[in-house]
Amino acid sequence: MDFATQRQAMVAQLRERQDISEPVAAAMLAVPRHLFVPGVEPESAYRDEPIVTRRDAEGRPISSSSQPAIMAIMLDQLGVEPGHRVLEIGAGTGYNAALLARLAGPGGRVVSVDIDADIVAEARGHLTAAGSPPVEVVCADGGLGWPGLAPYDRLVATVGVWDLAPAWLAQLGPGGRLVVPLDLRGVQVSVAMERDGDRWVGRSVAPCGFMRMRGPFAGTELLMVLRRDPDLMLALPAPRELGDVAAALDTEPVEVAVPVREPVSPLVLGMGVSLWLALHEPRWCVVTGKLGAGYGATAGIAERGSIAVLAMDGRPGGGADGGADGGADGGADNGVVVRGHGPDGRRLAGELSAHVRAWEEAGRPEAGDLRVEAYTGPVPVRDGAVVIGKRHTTLVVSLS
Ligand SMILES: C[S@@+](CC[C@H](N)C(=O)[O-])C[C@H]1O[C@@H](n2cnc3c(N)ncnc32)[C@H](O)[C@@H]1O
Repeated sequence: MDFATQRQAMVAQLRERQDISEPVAAAMLAVPRHLFVPGVEPESAYRDEPIVTRRDAEGRPISSSSQPAIMAIMLDQLGVEPGHRVLEIGAGTGYNAALLARLAGPGGRVVSVDIDADIVAEARGHLTAAGSPPVEVVCADGGLGWPGLAPYDRLVATVGVWDLAPAWLAQLGPGGRLVVPLDLRGVQVSVAMERDGDRWVGRSVAPCGFMRMRGPFAGTELLMVLRRDPDLMLALPAPRELGDVAAALDTEPVEVAVPVREPVSPLVLGMGVSLWLALHEPRWCVVTGKLGAGYGATAGIAERGSIAVLAMDGRPGGGADGGADGGADGGADNGVVVRGHGPDGRRLAGELSAHVRAWEEAGRPEAGDLRVEAYTGPVPVRDGAVVIGKRHTTLVVSLS
């Protein structure tokens, strides 16, 4: 199959699972993703998967080409129109910048910022090799935006952000929109926000999972490598002492079946319960890597030396997404099982089951049901809303 045919197959497959606008689909059909990931087999470039292109000394991913499904979702949230000036934070391979350049057309401008000089050099090379319309790729901390070409009509971060940087808000012009993978106490959602007086209002919200921003604008989230081979990682919204959770995960679990009214897909369960825990449970965590029979991600509660997680390995509970810059995944419908490991595993499994039941009682809320607002000044009191204080803004999150 030639590369154009592979792109058509990829876009057709994406469109079976999600809506993609005509301009975004046309851009994905035109841009040769395989030229942006020269180290991998070209066939892999046209699978709906994230491709990690760089890791740090501990093995944590620090750059990738994100999963096409989530790129399409975010581009549609962003709504780039011909002639727009667009700022991207996180150039990575340059692939998304090439899509942005197609969408902005010859009358538009695209500037893409990356904190890593080697990544910038490679992205420039990929864009040239792919014959992309012009993109300015610059090496800088994206937390400062790029004042040189401001004001922007659109700003997108393709890296997980903990807060809205003041420079982004200042550099967006009237009618401007930003789309960022925003941290809500350790869970990420892609939020499209627009200015409304003294606040920024979320216009659409989608689930996502991006690697985190580096540098002074990094947040408090912690990604601990529990084991290197096969890899197992634990993410926490903020550092805390947990003892040897890896050893606990190696012990035989206590399994608790949680009755649910209707079958629930692994994706809905994993995303929905993660969001629920992030908003309601300070001890929550995400485990990624080799879990039981498969590779995946799951959410749970961790205390010193003990942990309880949702079963996500094909036994009751199902699978999950791969973690590095992903968005959507399929999977079979199933019941829910919670596993507790370690001396307090049984108690934690009971507490996690209670959260699953509460999530079910609340109507299984998911990312799309969230209302997110960001304030740079005083915050109004709102019943039932969760207020999350950041460095530069205060987020007010509620379930609609
Ligand atoms: C998931 S990759 C971006 C994917 C990219 N848009 C593509 O299409 O390949 C995230 C990128 O953000 C960059 N990054 C991390 N922290 C940053 C920061 N503070 N400022 C700018 N870029 C940053 C990383 O170096 C990495 O290349």
